[in-house]
Amino acid sequence: MFKKDAVALVTGAATGIGLETALAFARAGCQVVLADRDDVRGPQAVERIRKLGGQAVFIRTDIGNADDVIALHQHIKDTFGRLDAACNNAGIEGEQGATADCSLENFDRVIAINLRGLFVCLQEQIKLMLPRKRGAIVNMASVAGLVGFAGLPAYCASKGGVVQLTRGCALEYAEAGIRVNAVCPGAIKTEMIDRITQKDPATEKQFAAMHPMNRMGTPQEIADTVVWLCSSQASFITGQALAVDGGMVAR
Ligand SMILES: NC(=O)c1ccc[n+]([C@@H]2O[C@H](COP(=O)([O-])OP(=O)(O)OC[C@H]3O[C@@H](n4cnc5c(N)ncnc54)[C@H](O)[C@@H]3O)[C@@H](O)[C@H]2O)c1
Repeated sequence: MFKKDAVALVTGAATGIGLETALAFARAGCQVVLADRDDVRGPQAVERIRKLGGQAVFIRTDIGNADDVIALHQHIKDTFGRLDAACNNAGIEGEQGATADCSLENFDRVIAINLRGLFVCLQEQIKLMLPRKRGAIVNMASVAGLVGFAGLPAYCASKGGVVQLTRGCALEYAEAGIRVNAVCPGAIKTEMIDRITQKDPATEKQFAAMHPMNRMGTPQEIADTVVWLCSSQASFITGQALAVDGGMVAR
């Protein structure tokens, strides 16, 4: 449940998990701010929400650029004067390859968006939430932040960083009424997974088989978890890194 006029921010909201999360916040009655660097599909996502009767706005933002991130949150402050929920979802997988083959450029790019960019978002969101002593933040990590995955060293490092950033931050602001959690999806059928599997049915089958449920997850299943974690139904939950993975990390 959300209070009337609640404002929710989703980064990386133009497609995939972020788009579904923005739609789910809108269905829950929130005004939604969609931030993404894709200024074609971002506005299209806003249109979709408006057609469903929801309220939404798109702000073009490169999460890897701190000035953009600060401007995004300043815009939210000036327009709404509040931020109730935020899902820091924007992320990239980077290039695939073993650690010794991972270029520094690739490593820096992945960390700049997935970890440093998310860190700046977190800082700005806390500053917006502190005066009202309430708010909930969900950081999009991954099962790759909980267990090792070969061939994506920068991605694993970034998502492991997100999990630990979440835990420490949750402790700092628990008494101030701000909850901070991470969601750790297994393989979710989005464009990111399509880029990794190249839509090859055999590779997709292998990805499905990594999960005891023998299938990939859907963006909707992650979106529902995020919205629930941000709602009052999860009011005593903070500092968690919740795997939504069909049982993968229970093995
Ligand atoms: N799909 C999966 O299997 C999976 C699994 C675990 C975690 N995740 C995480 O979930 C998040 C979303 O993944 P997805 O599968 O929906 O990916 P996706 O590639 O389908 O969508 C990512 C979205 O983020 C946006 N984005 C990327 N870099 C950005 C930047 N610098 N600034 C602003 N926007 C940016 C893209 O434009 C796009 O709209 C990512 O953080 C990803 O690491 C995905």
